[in-house]
Amino acid sequence: MAPKIKIPTHVAIIMDGNGRWATNRGLPRIEGHVEGVKAAERTIDAAKELGIKYLTLYAFSTENWYRPPEEVNFLMELLRDYLKEKLPTFLEKDIRVSFIGRRDRIPKDTLEWMEKVEKETKRCRSIEVFVAVDYGGRDEIVRAVNKIIKEGGREITENLLRQHLDIPPYVEDPDLLIRTGGEKRISNFLLWYISYTELYFTPVLWPDFNKEHLLEAIKDYSQRVRKFGRVK
Ligand code: FPP
Repeated sequence: MAPKIKIPTHVAIIMDGNGRWATNRGLPRIEGHVEGVKAAERTIDAAKELGIKYLTLYAFSTENWYRPPEEVNFLMELLRDYLKEKLPTFLEKDIRVSFIGRRDRIPKDTLEWMEKVEKETKRCRSIEVFVAVDYGGRDEIVRAVNKIIKEGGREITENLLRQHLDIPPYVEDPDLLIRTGGEKRISNFLLWYISYTELYFTPVLWPDFNKEHLLEAIKDYSQRVRKFGRVK
């Protein structure tokens, strides 16, 4: 009998390898990002079909601003154009899209589309997608603490801090974190939330990632014994 598959409630993905995918083909790096968007779209559809409730995607980190300005501008424009084009599809497929990360450094037109998509998909429920843009785990925790200080808070608890993070408190911590592209590191992603998350690293470059790869990760996850620090 085939082993039973456990569908994780919340999957997070570090979408790495776009640049290498393009370079391997003698293409400019930005072509890898164009294909990366297609992979993100495929993955959202696959996750929805599998019954995953929350999907968090790392699109742009607080450190990615140090890339060449042409690449940064291209990524911001790509995100804007993708949101513009796909808003009707999100609504039709009942996909809620929201964003985590800083909002004070994003180009105005991109931010406008981010906020429009968030507002218009607010009632969609087939899957909730959190896209991390200008996101860093440390930055998120520091912003949360500063929000608490502004509200007059004098003592931090785990629960209070969690209430002030970017992902809404009703969302469970990720069950599974996937990183494509072969590197085995966290790169400042979701630091608070991944204390007991199962990690899965694959050499597949993000533009090649598809439903089969997602299923492979989920099969691997299904074999893990999760103890959350306790005795099983
Ligand atoms: C990592 O590849 C990828 C990024 C920094 C950008 C990820 C962005 C997308 C997939 C497109 C935007 C997504 C959405 C949801 C609209 P890399 O450039 O670091 O690749 P490398 O390690 O091979 O250089």
